[in-house]
Amino acid sequence: MRIGVLTGGGDCPGLNAAIRAVVKRAELEYGDSILGFKNGWKGAAEGDLMPLSRATMRNMLPQGGTILGTARFHPSTKDGSLDQVLRTMEAEHVEAMVCIGGDGTLKAANRVAEAGIKMVGIPKTIDNDVVGTELSIGFDTAVSIATEAIDRLHTTAESHNRVMVVEVMGHHAGWIAIESGIAGGAEVVLTPERPFDIDEICEALKHRHRSHANYSIIVVAEGAEPAEGTSMEYKTQYSVNGSIVPGSISEALGREIADRTGFETRVTVLGHVQRGGTPTAADRILGSRFGVAAVDAIHSGHTGVITALQQEKVVLVPIDEIAGKLKTVPEELIQTAQALA
Ligand code: F6P
Repeated sequence: MRIGVLTGGGDCPGLNAAIRAVVKRAELEYGDSILGFKNGWKGAAEGDLMPLSRATMRNMLPQGGTILGTARFHPSTKDGSLDQVLRTMEAEHVEAMVCIGGDGTLKAANRVAEAGIKMVGIPKTIDNDVVGTELSIGFDTAVSIATEAIDRLHTTAESHNRVMVVEVMGHHAGWIAIESGIAGGAEVVLTPERPFDIDEICEALKHRHRSHANYSIIVVAEGAEPAEGTSMEYKTQYSVNGSIVPGSISEALGREIADRTGFETRVTVLGHVQRGGTPTAADRILGSRFGVAAVDAIHSGHTGVITALQQEKVVLVPIDEIAGKLKTVPEELIQTAQALA
């Protein structure tokens, strides 16, 4: 069988482990040939591709990013790019696809599956907000990077008696903020799931600094916002591609805290550092498990599904059950972070 593979949306560590697993499983177990589409669905629309083999997969596991490249491009019927994708599949005799991506890429995968191509998706996103799977590729590495940053900020915060505001990624869901905040021992963790009250935060900081500490760490997800009716004026700033402008919330928060408390305050925006560099062992293992499972799924006749981690096992979940939905941080984790503040 001829299988296509692509990575779409924002990159993350662990993608190459998944590509490697797809190629090795397909070649060794089933004698398939594998075509890599460059730059996500864009490469599929434009016929920009590269053959992949075991030989091209050497030393892939520690490499961050994606050897295939990626883009935020989703084929649609309106602009004809879906037809272009289907023409490429036909011209290249591609019978099945493995699409490694977040919500946008997987939604597009479903459209291509409906047009008759066997399709298995693999969830990846440092945001960890894909429904149906406990973990997505890239999340563990992002949490490790953010936790290390918080650890490092602790010592300089304490030395200078400062409030440190650390902004992490997480547009609609605050998974990185909550997990790195708990692991790093942040005093305040702010997520999109729970709009905040600046007065409450400043009172808590003043109380802490009066009673037992001279510094504080605040972790804020880029998509966090003040609650309606509270006293902070703020509008999230977006760039042309729809991403939040890095530093939008943390700079505003830092200014408010400094003005209202008089504490010296500094802001750190982790930004794309969270998506770069070598993947953790956990992300390499997850990528490898999902890659093998995706090829096995194709050969056992499944289509229109994603690989997912549920209770330690890799299972298959229909894409139309998860497309367009968002996995948000549960109340229990938010309360754990608050209990430890
Ligand atoms: O891939 C998810 C993500 O990292 C989000 O956390 C962030 O909002 C966005 O991508 C940033 O996108 P870009 O790389 O286009 O700036």
